[in-house]
Amino acid sequence: MKLFSSVNDVTDIDALVKEALALKQNPYANQELGKNKTLALVFLNPSLRTRMSTQKAALNLGMNVMVLNIDKEGWALELRDGVVMDGTTVEHIREAAGVMGQYADIIGVRSFPGLRNREEDYSEMIFNKFVEFCKVPVVSLESATRHPLQSLADLVTITELKTTARPKVVLTWAPHIKPLPQAVPNSFSEWMCKADVDFTIVQPKGYELCADFTQGATISYNQDEALVDADFIYVKNWSAYEPYGNILGKNEEWMLTNEKLKLTNNAKVMHCLPVRRNLELSDEILDGPNSIVVHEAGNRVWAAQAVLKQMLESL
Ligand code: CP
Repeated sequence: MKLFSSVNDVTDIDALVKEALALKQNPYANQELGKNKTLALVFLNPSLRTRMSTQKAALNLGMNVMVLNIDKEGWALELRDGVVMDGTTVEHIREAAGVMGQYADIIGVRSFPGLRNREEDYSEMIFNKFVEFCKVPVVSLESATRHPLQSLADLVTITELKTTARPKVVLTWAPHIKPLPQAVPNSFSEWMCKADVDFTIVQPKGYELCADFTQGATISYNQDEALVDADFIYVKNWSAYEPYGNILGKNEEWMLTNEKLKLTNNAKVMHCLPVRRNLELSDEILDGPNSIVVHEAGNRVWAAQAVLKQMLESL
């Protein structure tokens, strides 16, 4: 594997999930594979889980790891071509990414969307420029439109904890005070549509995701109806795709509660984290027996390790 930016970069999803679960049982079996190989993790935005789990995954594989918070510690990057750099930017992404490729065997990049210009965000301009100019394999640590390491960890978690062959999985919109990217729900939907699950997305009118990511999903606007018999509930806020990046209303009644859980098949509750308590998800859910959010975050290590292992094998 030379690129991990979406589910479309995976040739065999089942095999990758099985690999992640096998690595969970035997984390240090491939330490020779990563010996004298370097992973550079480049963050243009904050992170807790992605940073630590991917670093841990690389260490388990015997790799060296460098972390650069380029938004805070690097030179201000110029992304546009053909401009006179007489403003605030100091270094062009062509040189910056090219130089990183000299130091690292694999590069991870996190680049959130600006949520102002949909065309620009959905073209994945920043992420794609890193891929183009660094000349080494690249793993997405969350880009403008997708979060594939999170989605793989989510599928690993569902596969690990399901009690029926084809579980019902519901992605439900949740309230928030800030406009959030569509990357996590886009990506989760894209992976669920390719997995062997019965998948529903439920949201208030106006929060429909880009249809490119939801082919095969059942779309609903009634949360109570959608939750009936759910085995897994994936809770997430996202801003509108149209008008792009907008919050359309408070919709506080969409926060998941124990009362709503009664509609489900004792559903396990997932969230990618970080989560705002009692806004996106109630204390009673997060502190109750149905929440698997910490377990899910733990599986980020094995998802990242499976991807890095496949990349190391292709070097
Ligand atoms: N879920 C997730 O990606 O967490 P971080 O933003 O903390 O990395």
